[in-house]
Amino acid sequence: MGNVIIIGAGLSGLSAAMTLAEKGQSSLLVSAQPSERAQSVLAEGGFNAAADTMGENDSTALHFEDTMKGGVYLADPNACAALAENAPKLLEKLISLGAAFNMADGKPVLRNFGGQKKKRTAYAKASTGKMIMSALIDEVRRYESKGLVTRYPHHKFVSLIVSDGECCGVFVQDIYTKKITAMFGSVILCCGGMNGFFPEMTTGTTANSGYVQAEIFSQGVAFANLEMLQYHPTTIGIPGKRCLVTEAARGEGGRLFIKRNGGNYYFMEEKYPELKNLMPRDVVSREMYLTRRQTDCEGEVMLDMTGLSEQVWSERLPDLRQELKEQLGLDPAKEPVPVREGIHYFMGGIFVDEFHRTCMRGLYAAGECACQYHGANRLGGNSMLGAVYGGSKAAQQALADGVKSAEGAADMSKAAFEEARPVFIKKISDILLGALGIVRNEQTLRAALDELGRLSGSNSDETARLELARAMLMSAAERRESRGAHFREDYPEKDERLRRTLVAQLKNGEVALEFRDLPERRVGDEAQT
Ligand code: FUM
Repeated sequence: MGNVIIIGAGLSGLSAAMTLAEKGQSSLLVSAQPSERAQSVLAEGGFNAAADTMGENDSTALHFEDTMKGGVYLADPNACAALAENAPKLLEKLISLGAAFNMADGKPVLRNFGGQKKKRTAYAKASTGKMIMSALIDEVRRYESKGLVTRYPHHKFVSLIVSDGECCGVFVQDIYTKKITAMFGSVILCCGGMNGFFPEMTTGTTANSGYVQAEIFSQGVAFANLEMLQYHPTTIGIPGKRCLVTEAARGEGGRLFIKRNGGNYYFMEEKYPELKNLMPRDVVSREMYLTRRQTDCEGEVMLDMTGLSEQVWSERLPDLRQELKEQLGLDPAKEPVPVREGIHYFMGGIFVDEFHRTCMRGLYAAGECACQYHGANRLGGNSMLGAVYGGSKAAQQALADGVKSAEGAADMSKAAFEEARPVFIKKISDILLGALGIVRNEQTLRAALDELGRLSGSNSDETARLELARAMLMSAAERRESRGAHFREDYPEKDERLRRTLVAQLKNGEVALEFRDLPERRVGDEAQT
């Protein structure tokens, strides 16, 4: 009998499990944390869909164009066309499952988000992830009760089981008993971003440690565009991490300024009169970083939300206000909030094709762990959409390819679970952050590679992490242009010859890089599901 194993129980994992169950295929849903504690629950701002409920003549074609432009044309156009085309019906489905979006007259209210000229982002106050997750958790529980989903919370991924170059299952470890088990079947990785590589700088949970990515990279799985890290412009620092101040704050009218010559300098509004504070994140973050360094500017960039009405606060952002009161002890309705850029999303990741197939047969990836849809910069609101759509797409493809057998034999002696020591992770993180900031150059990247070369891992996870970190730095050094989130002060222009996917793979123990052409846009079939 065929079997599908899903690693990760956030949005993409639940979406994959639901799609499989709808088609009568059972799955095993494996995750270190239960769904209720997945990163997806923390997602704030919204879910993009050109549902056009605000009378603005929006269309899926415009959503597609904004997505491609926002990603500086580095994403697969066929994948993005299908993403935009399917978004409105996915939104409808989530509403029908009970996701508590803000509604008016029975239709979702949409708000402005960065890099998009139309109101296109459906939201549930500033807790959109939590509300979508609640609906999907219920739906997957319903299928669980029918025997179509078996959950394995508190189980960590150990490694892939590979036979003749094909993935035929995984080793997983029970967190409590430490027992390692082999599970056989097709595998869909939905393990989130590599937040654990940047513990103090990320808005994401470090429970998404990057272990899975490092391990499968060492097992030969190809990754792509690893240099593309998204810095979200508006984050605040609390001990040990960055916290998100949702882009919805600017979507609802929040304004960025810095002190200059005794007055407030609204730099985004002066420089970008059309989209102003809602330029794509790569642009806003870079402007904040560079503006802070201007000699005539002083102090931190501030986010001024004091002009938002009480109605906006109570209906649309009550949770953000509450969070800022708790975390900073200030009321954002009364005083501006100091903000800085923080690592928020990984546009790069496991290299997948339009159908979410990795380079290894039997292995698929979806959600933030996969390099798909976002090119060189993700638009806010496209991540939850990409996770729900991508999980479903990967599940459909696993079925179309014929799911692999639940029976198999594996050499248990190969299954050992070793985790990097926090002190080692910190060393890698410091090196990466020193070179993979908002502005990069060859010199610091080469110096970081040299420094990394002086580290040696004392267990398999540490060794694997070193290789993946090396691939990130090498990718950033190899892309000698500026595109989206990757800004090279020594190559400040875009180079159209490099509008190509940069694939990284471990071959014979060495990181190998290769630029690959993007697929041509097919016309006329974007309605595929
Ligand atoms: O700012 C935000 O609410 C983030 C949304 C996103 O990353 O999609």
